[in-house]
Amino acid sequence: MSVLSDKKILLGVSGGIAAYKAAELVRLLVTEGAIVRVVMTEAATQFITPLTLEALSGSKVHRHLFDASETSAMGHIDLARWADLILIAPASADLIARLRSGLAHDLLTTLCLASTAPLWVAPAMNRVMWEHAATQENISILKSRGVHLLGPDQGIQACGESGPGRLLEPDLILKGLQQAFSRGPWTGLRLLISAGPTREPIDPVRYLSNRSSGKMGYALAKAAQDQGAAVTLISGPTALTPPKVDHFIKVETAKDMLAAVLQGALTADLYIGSAAVADYAPIMAPQKIKKGAPTLTLELQKTVDIIGQVSSLEQRPFTVGFAAETENLEAHALVKLKNKGLDLIAANPVGEHQGFEVDDNELMVFWEGGQRFLPKTPKTDLAAVLLTLILERYHASHPS
Ligand code: PMT
Repeated sequence: MSVLSDKKILLGVSGGIAAYKAAELVRLLVTEGAIVRVVMTEAATQFITPLTLEALSGSKVHRHLFDASETSAMGHIDLARWADLILIAPASADLIARLRSGLAHDLLTTLCLASTAPLWVAPAMNRVMWEHAATQENISILKSRGVHLLGPDQGIQACGESGPGRLLEPDLILKGLQQAFSRGPWTGLRLLISAGPTREPIDPVRYLSNRSSGKMGYALAKAAQDQGAAVTLISGPTALTPPKVDHFIKVETAKDMLAAVLQGALTADLYIGSAAVADYAPIMAPQKIKKGAPTLTLELQKTVDIIGQVSSLEQRPFTVGFAAETENLEAHALVKLKNKGLDLIAANPVGEHQGFEVDDNELMVFWEGGQRFLPKTPKTDLAAVLLTLILERYHASHPS
């Protein structure tokens, strides 16, 4: 049975050229067994007829705040109570601004205010409008209130420009909703993950870094999100397309990563430090270093141990580290487990074609009083197995 079967979904359609995609979205939702009711803003009716959405949803399209044909004058309250989930697709810049301000001029915004159902928003607008500071601020405030975002997508827009702002394709919106309704074992948990390398500038054009591709950390983020976690992924520079997670934060240096991780740790239930953070960073030269002398000495300074800082917070998340070792895997990992104050450590042998960059990995996992070997397998599969083990240990240490 589909996870959307019998789910009551209130689809809000606001004005924009992408409104035509609402027809496909309704069709997909109905095919999955969802009960769909559509609310259109007046502007939306300029782009697609209510009749189309009525025919596809099998239900009257709601448009007016005061609808004489409703049996009760409280139409919006009825609708607000009816919905298991409110999805607005497309959500225009104007609608997003009105949601942020709590305005209630029309039926759609009024019932968003009057409902306790989770609100999902799929923005669609011109690239410049999306990137405008006002829209970005509105979005970040809505997110901080627990509104879920689907997209926007990147690409060619109806106005001829290219960039972020396209409505996410209906099948991807559907997938997002399926995830929202599938209660995986991580549902309700907030997971913070760091991934990839850091880059430590030597001068304005050069840096020190390492071979981490981000594959292991991104695989963990994707698997956790698929299993219901609310994931924040903090990533150093990688060539990968980020997985769809609740929050994705790009950083460069160990110092940037430290700040982002400490901020994220304030609200995380678990932290997994899979990033390969530089242990030492150069003192950056203000100008490009000139070629001259036959040898060049760089002075390096020790960076702050990010995971050690997290594990010593008063309100600390369950803290999981990685150990990348070229020798004495077990002995080094056990020292890191203890010295960094970790709840669990996943140690991987690294070297040429091992651990870093490659698609497969193997792990020896240690925690106080236990250990388990996870044999070599693709990082995407290994991530799911490691997450199961982490969750087991997390529940063992949080019996309630
Ligand atoms: O990205 P991939 O190409 O897929 O490769 C995956 C990986 C090999 C990078 C990954 O599996 C891994 O092992 N990540 C940790 C790499 C590392 O920096 O290990 P370490 O043994 O040097 O550090 C131990 C722990 O301390 C790690 O959790 C690390 O994130 C953390 N640390 C280290 C230094 C520092 N300044 N702050 C930290 O938090």
